[in-house]
Amino acid sequence: MVNIGVLVSGSGSNLQAIIDSVEAGSLKASIKVVISDNSQAYAIERAKKHGIPSVVLLKKGYSSREEFDKEVVRELKENGVELVVMAGFMRIISKVILEAFPMRIMNIHPSLLPAFPGLDVQKKALEHGVKFSGCTVHFVDEGLDSGPIVIQAAVPVLDADTPETLAKRILAEEHRIYPQAIQFFSEGRIEFSGRRVSIKKNAEPSATVENPLVTVFGTLNENSPP
Ligand code: GAR
Repeated sequence: MVNIGVLVSGSGSNLQAIIDSVEAGSLKASIKVVISDNSQAYAIERAKKHGIPSVVLLKKGYSSREEFDKEVVRELKENGVELVVMAGFMRIISKVILEAFPMRIMNIHPSLLPAFPGLDVQKKALEHGVKFSGCTVHFVDEGLDSGPIVIQAAVPVLDADTPETLAKRILAEEHRIYPQAIQFFSEGRIEFSGRRVSIKKNAEPSATVENPLVTVFGTLNENSPP
């Protein structure tokens, strides 16, 4: 189980996918707070419908990015957040948040990074003529969409695609891989080797009781005497 705080700016369909996975029991996480930098974000309605506390922080209320980010960190810490989940949060975060949550901030981006970081990426993918695009869940570092990659999913780019149709196809994959990546974190299965991330294999059955010799499934433990 992991306590998460979700940062949003817009529709919040990724937030919804995370909420749905938590409610379905496939994601062992507790959404402690949703923070939006946009008072009109539909994501706030989604949070309210599911009884999740939400906070709106407007940049005009702060003298600098750092001051804004200090307030974000205060909200996250006050709510006991362990993993920060950026889900369509359209601000670049400063060191203030990065240092408060080192390698504990995830983001989802609608391209196969390192191709097409930044904004308007479906349009850029079409203009470039790539045959596949997709989405990436990555940890956030000081660069732009440049941190260690956790999961990627690819989709084909079709001749008839517009930025909107491509975005829709990619979004469906985002909704699949983001809850999965958070679940890997929740299970403590994420390992770093430099900037490479690998996912540790699931431990032997963990939700069952084992005696010293034999698991409940009747197989001998590797280290137990015959
Ligand atoms: C998603 O496609 C997400 O990947 C993208 O914004 C959309 C948010 O949708 N994020 C970025 O482009 C960040 N660089 P949502 O609000 O419906 O989850």
